[in-house]
Amino acid sequence: MKRGTALASSAAAARADMSAARADFPWAGKQTYLNTATEHPLSVHTTRAMEEYLHALTHGPDAARDKFENGRLMKEVKEMFARLINATPGEIGFTPSTQTGENIVIEGLDIEAAGGNVVTNDLHYGGSLLNYENRRKGGMDVRVVKHRDYQMDMRDLERVVDKKTKLIAIALVSNVNGYVHDVKAISDLAHAHGAYLYCDVIQMAGATPIDVKAMGIDFLACSAYKFLQGGRFGYLYVREDLQGTALKAKLFGGRSTPTGASRYEISTVSHLGCVCQHQALQYIHAIGVDKIAAHARPLIDRLMKELPAAGYPTITPKGSPSSIASFQMKDAAAVRAKFKAANVIVTTGGNMRVSVSVFNTMADVDRLIAALA
Ligand SMILES: Cc1ncc(COP(=O)(O)O)c(C=O)c1O
Repeated sequence: MKRGTALASSAAAARADMSAARADFPWAGKQTYLNTATEHPLSVHTTRAMEEYLHALTHGPDAARDKFENGRLMKEVKEMFARLINATPGEIGFTPSTQTGENIVIEGLDIEAAGGNVVTNDLHYGGSLLNYENRRKGGMDVRVVKHRDYQMDMRDLERVVDKKTKLIAIALVSNVNGYVHDVKAISDLAHAHGAYLYCDVIQMAGATPIDVKAMGIDFLACSAYKFLQGGRFGYLYVREDLQGTALKAKLFGGRSTPTGASRYEISTVSHLGCVCQHQALQYIHAIGVDKIAAHARPLIDRLMKELPAAGYPTITPKGSPSSIASFQMKDAAAVRAKFKAANVIVTTGGNMRVSVSVFNTMADVDRLIAALA
């Protein structure tokens, strides 16, 4: 079967019955993999495309390689990502990663020159917090709001945002516990103070619907290797009217364009990542993010009900509409040993973080619960 036809028929089968998606991710048949918040297994479709590309790079000829390294493919990837977040393709730039995107935003806003401050919180990604800590050491006014019971209390945020705030930066879905911030309230607060909102959506894109316009998001970034189903590849969204005005381009190279969000691009993209994303985004769109999110709900709800009852209190707020739930462990070493024996893959550094994607079924959740018994 031709590659495109195989992907379309797999995605249609998964859309009709999500358990069909399991066949597209062979890893899921070998281990109980509930760890997409760390990295998504690759599908047979993305792998097949990348293998064809690698074959072309190994054996040539030029025409075979050109099938994968071309502007049309990149344009389609940008269009598909834009559609995923309700942006326009001109609002999307490629970046190597989430954190590169966040750095481009911090640099481009000229925060210190304007005597401004940045507000973030401790549910943001550790690498980003390290970034802000280093910037604070360099003299930037950085305000880190503490969570209350693993959620953001708007009153705490309101207390530190002022007219000098230039940027509020959050992980819209926190990697710590899957908490989904009240993004509209935060963007309203930012805008009321003349500030902008940056959202890290690596734990959300591909898993939960995103609408940058309705949510009032000014800047957004993510990598593709989690719920976007693979590829060391990333995206930066910059609201059209902020491009080159509020957000200056500070780094330039062969891919920097005079207009559009690609003005923030510098170098040749990872074509391998782009080839992977070209397949993955088609697959995600063909199933539909609504459907993907709905599939995750009963799995997460069951974990949220059963694990606390089994002695693992949750740190994920009830009703959080993400694909991630986290639990505390009294004896992490014992839990790790149980998961190892049962071949269950979840994150157990700190808390136990469980995450589900298209290939997971309730049987995976059964196995995780049985492993802990
Ligand atoms: C919320 C969040 N942001 C960022 C990252 C990683 O960012 P990058 O794409 O720069 O590797 C992770 C990885 O776990 C994450 O959970």
